[in-house]
Amino acid sequence: MEVVKRGAEAIIYADGERIIKVRMKKGYRHPELDRRLRLSRTRREARLLKKVREMGVPAPKVMEVDEENFRIVMERIRGPTLKSVLLKEKRSDLMERLGELVATLHRNNVIHGDLTTSNVIVSGDLYLIDFGLGEVSHRVEDKAVDLVCFEKSYTATHPDFPEGWEAFIESYRRNYPGAEKVLRQMEAVKRRARYL
Ligand SMILES: Nc1ncnc2c1ncn2[C@@H]1O[C@H](COP(=O)(O)OP(=O)(O)O)[C@@H](O)[C@H]1O
Ligand SMILES: [Mg+2]
Repeated sequence: MEVVKRGAEAIIYADGERIIKVRMKKGYRHPELDRRLRLSRTRREARLLKKVREMGVPAPKVMEVDEENFRIVMERIRGPTLKSVLLKEKRSDLMERLGELVATLHRNNVIHGDLTTSNVIVSGDLYLIDFGLGEVSHRVEDKAVDLVCFEKSYTATHPDFPEGWEAFIESYRRNYPGAEKVLRQMEAVKRRARYL
């Protein structure tokens, strides 16, 4: 099996058309806390991947969840990350599509928890991955925090493409009736963050 990525938390292996994501032990965490975190993130990720697919948001199919070994086997989505595509060309159309997908998540009370352009794969459509920090919440605050974190990471990664962010927000607004409240709350979240 080939290692696709060795991340801070997980190792991603590719095996033909399947991806295996294994959450590794962190030596610096207390063993029991470490076990609980790996288990809850593995479960969350598998549960949310299934849930978002049901609401029509493209995401890899989950084939197997191995709770003993903190392992998820899922469909391999062939294609570059949105990050690498946007670093080569300014594709507002892709950010517009992403706005629609995140609007669908939030409309259905799913918080991604780690929105970045690395957690989106471009393969015809856009596929969302990496739901280990996600949750179900109807709170405007949680949706606003999801977007503030995304904005921060987007701006750092794509400083030369602010039009992409604008396209994202415009489309989020168009596709989610609750968007105005969330966008207003973002301002409050940012104000608070400045004073922390
Ligand atoms: N289902 C998948 N299909 C194809 N590539 C994937 C898949 N899942 C993850 N990857 C690749 O592995 C990288 C890291 O996976 P991710 O789930 O985001 O883990 P991490 O928590 O380490 O960020 C992704 O950016 C992507 O390049
Ligand atoms: Mg990731």
